[in-house]
Amino acid sequence: MIGIPFIHLSEINSTNIYAMEQLQAKLAEHGAAFFADLQTSGKGQMGKKWESEAGKNLLLSVILNTSSLNMGDQFVLSAAVALATYDFLSVYINQDLTIKWPNDLYWGDRKAGGILIENQISGGIWTHAIAGIGININQTRFRETTARAVSLRQITGQQYHSVDLAKELCTCMEKRFNQLMHSNGCNEIINDYNKVLYKKGEIVKLKTGNSSARYTIQQVDRHGQLYVSGGIPMQFTHGTVEWVIETKQ
Ligand code: BTN
Repeated sequence: MIGIPFIHLSEINSTNIYAMEQLQAKLAEHGAAFFADLQTSGKGQMGKKWESEAGKNLLLSVILNTSSLNMGDQFVLSAAVALATYDFLSVYINQDLTIKWPNDLYWGDRKAGGILIENQISGGIWTHAIAGIGININQTRFRETTARAVSLRQITGQQYHSVDLAKELCTCMEKRFNQLMHSNGCNEIINDYNKVLYKKGEIVKLKTGNSSARYTIQQVDRHGQLYVSGGIPMQFTHGTVEWVIETKQ
């Protein structure tokens, strides 16, 4: 059961690091959730730092047993975690909530949360994943470099209890994880993911290397390839393309 036990840490380097250490030391298994008030070395995507003011946000890592999934299903798991986060946020945010490929939670053109999944592979078998989720909850000021960040409080005007929210998120994760384990789970997850895909059907500017061009976002497949059209239909792999977000003035 995801969220049992639920371990509340006041300060830690990173809940992902801590969860992985606990797993490797056999002190924790599938379902264990680690929440922190403060991370001193929070990890973001692509080797970036994840910064968060003490006690203001949701910083959570969950251990997932992936032994019944194939190595090629890594994107589907990431999509399932993103959908669980979407399900959880949609209780509080009633419009403009989307998942930006591959797994950012967006409100309009602003980022409300991000996900970092780290895997444990032993003897060539994908045994576990640590799903790390960071959601901006009560923080109202962000650094210049994270100018696109937005918090739940900024969206709704309300204040929240991050620990309670993290437990609700665990319940949403349990549902999506169970869905993923069903026979047609992978296809269902990808279909649901595509329904809430950021800028789907819209024209966006994407940058690859030194060149950027406009494309219409079509869909994402179960391997995480982003399909676009416009001129020549193309597909992109995460990490090879950058979004250029043009905000209306
Ligand atoms: C991103 O860059 O969008 C991913 C951010 C993931 C941050 C979360 S916070 C809880 C967990 N522990 C970490 O060190 N990172 C993830």
